[in-house]
Amino acid sequence: PLVSMRELLDHAAENGYGIPAFNVNNLEQVQAVMEAARETAAPVILQASAGARKYAGEPFVKHLIQAALEAYPEIPLVMHQDHGQSPDVCAGAIKLGFSSVMMDGSLEADGKTIASYDYNVDVTRKVVDMAHKLGVTVEGELGCLGSLETMKGDKEDGHGTEATMTREQLLTDPEQAADFVKKTQLDALAIAIGTSHGAYKFTRKPTGDILAIDRIKEIHRRIPNTHLVMHGSSSVPQDLLEIIRQYGGKMKETYGVPVEEIQEAIKHGVRKINIDTDIRLAMTGAVRKFMAENPDKFDMREWMKPAREAARQICKQRYLQFGCEGQA
Ligand code: G3H
Ligand code: 13P
Ligand code: ZN
Repeated sequence: PLVSMRELLDHAAENGYGIPAFNVNNLEQVQAVMEAARETAAPVILQASAGARKYAGEPFVKHLIQAALEAYPEIPLVMHQDHGQSPDVCAGAIKLGFSSVMMDGSLEADGKTIASYDYNVDVTRKVVDMAHKLGVTVEGELGCLGSLETMKGDKEDGHGTEATMTREQLLTDPEQAADFVKKTQLDALAIAIGTSHGAYKFTRKPTGDILAIDRIKEIHRRIPNTHLVMHGSSSVPQDLLEIIRQYGGKMKETYGVPVEEIQEAIKHGVRKINIDTDIRLAMTGAVRKFMAENPDKFDMREWMKPAREAARQICKQRYLQFGCEGQA
């Protein structure tokens, strides 16, 4: 059944696990996530970005998720809008039937300019007022995502600048987080704790302290009833990069967030873990391999199948690693 995100995250908090939120854009990705969830009896958060809605078109996004509900009736499922850029975008998603929306007021509506704190409070509060009346959950974002290794803001989500930032600028402030929650009454808060979007997060192999775990603990202590969200949580598995390179892909050396660090974060209040890049890497590697090994094949189903299978495997792994097994 379609459920609100609040319901799923409350259950995750009570039982001490985290839920991966997978970005989906097409049929095969939706099927991969749902199949992985069925195998592990895990609850599901399917999220669609503005890019997904543009790629597939709104009716297709909506009905792909409707199809998932119909085909997997036993699985509690959240239909979440990722990175809403304005209250209007969130209203549109709610109208489409989403049970959860993210109002990302950390950036202005152009998706580029770092927003003032007052702007963020204002737009997030607006969305909460509109959404809560309808039983829809709201995620907000406070802080500037970026890497504590390069000390640069996240380029992919618009926070990126060439300028080097200070550690304080790249971490969500716990006092401000408490004020933000009080003023907006949101359900879940995306925090900046050292992650960034995309495949190129870290240039060196992380040594076990790539996330600001202490900061997560402080924020959780200040706002224990607000579920924490980690964006940019792909682990960028080296074996997937190897497959891509082996079959002609060009990806330079890069590292993601180690699963063990995510597991540590889950112990301290992180409940929703956003993953997109790992699925992209898995599917791309599988397609490259199939194409290289089967130059005579041209039935799209034949190369989509291994891609869907690779996506299913990575999703299943994350459900197991984050403690979702049997929680549906
Ligand atoms: O937050 C970004 C997600 O990875 C979605 O990416 O905007 O390319 O669909 P996208
Ligand atoms: P990744 O790029 O690390 O997969 O992060 C995705 C994300 O945060 C979507 O909102
Ligand atoms: Zn994100």
